[in-house]
Amino acid sequence: MKTVGVDLGTRSYDIVIGAGALAELGRLSRKRTLTVMDSTVKALHGAKILASAGGSPEEVFSFPAGERSKTPETAVEICRCAARLKFDRSCRFAAAGGGVTGDLTGFAAAIFMRGIEFIQIPTTLLAAVDSGVGGKTGADIPEGKNLVGAFHQPAGVFIDTRLLTTLPASELGNGLAEIVKTAVILDPELFELLENSADRLVSRPDFEELYPEIIRRCCELKGMIVAEDEKESGRRAVLNYGHTFGHAVELLSDYTLPHGQAVAIGMAAASHLAVLRGLWKQSDADRQNRLLSRLGLPVKVPPRCRTCDLVNAMRADKKNVGGAIRVVLCSAVGSSRLPEAAGDGELAAAWEMIR
Ligand code: NAD
Ligand code: GLY
Repeated sequence: MKTVGVDLGTRSYDIVIGAGALAELGRLSRKRTLTVMDSTVKALHGAKILASAGGSPEEVFSFPAGERSKTPETAVEICRCAARLKFDRSCRFAAAGGGVTGDLTGFAAAIFMRGIEFIQIPTTLLAAVDSGVGGKTGADIPEGKNLVGAFHQPAGVFIDTRLLTTLPASELGNGLAEIVKTAVILDPELFELLENSADRLVSRPDFEELYPEIIRRCCELKGMIVAEDEKESGRRAVLNYGHTFGHAVELLSDYTLPHGQAVAIGMAAASHLAVLRGLWKQSDADRQNRLLSRLGLPVKVPPRCRTCDLVNAMRADKKNVGGAIRVVLCSAVGSSRLPEAAGDGELAAAWEMIR
């Protein structure tokens, strides 16, 4: 079992990673816990998770799987369920699922009685390497993705890689997109490891050693960034590499395109913008996009998305300031820059390059 710490003073917490990490839930103080799971996770792993967490089947909130459930209304439903069960401030919520469950449950925990404890039990690769760590919680509204939410750190994160064995290849791909993102912005050695093991990661996934090691490295890197800049007033923004472009594709697809695939397309667009600006060598951009393709991820914009609509959709991003669209770009594999303003013309050119 591997443990990574996130250093946030009195709100520091551990991320426990490995095959069998559910057993480590026993190290938590005993508290009444409302376990939140989507319909798929409840059916596949619900009994196992409840047994390890010592939770009661009556104290479970479940909702239909998928991004469409990630609304403020669902977060309020979680709070109403807790209120009906007479939960108080000494209780906790447990998010057992992917990023949708984690973001919703964390948001509900941030607002229920003005804030109670919650823990993350990531069951998707994406949640294990990204959304389960760092305390960004929230929900989507029709005007844009993640536009409501709160920073609320979990009290612990338990990543049992055996839960990942039931993920379909497409969901593994969504997590791989965030792993590539982490490597491209922060860690050339992780990037090389991905290049050297790309085929194995997709066709013979090893959840006992290789994936736990990659998850550990991603959690360590994300934990360091979060400890340095918890509320994204600076450096944390680099974790949004590919996301300003990606959120636009997600919005235009009415959230039918999964987040990880949208981020992969977004990274491809960002790489072309960085080359257009002379920041990044074409060979490095090609290297990133080749790795994404080898991992089965898309690097082309869906044909039905018009360039002008994509640029407009980028205006809804939270990183924009005073109406200017801001994007994260890289200057080398492993080196990212803080968000910078981009004009409509160059954004359109970058989108056109991935048609
Ligand atoms: P998700 O939670 O919808 O999970 C994807 C699908 O996998 C769902 O259908 C789910 O039921 C299924 N699933 C979950 N665990 C499974 C398992 N073990 N076996 C089989 N199927 C399983 O989506 P996601 O891709 O995990 O997360 C995407 C969300 O995360 C987006 O809303 C995105 O905005 C958010 N996100 C948040 C952060 C953050 O820092 N808070 C970071 C990245 C992404
Ligand atoms: N996924 C971006 C962040 O956590 O900051």
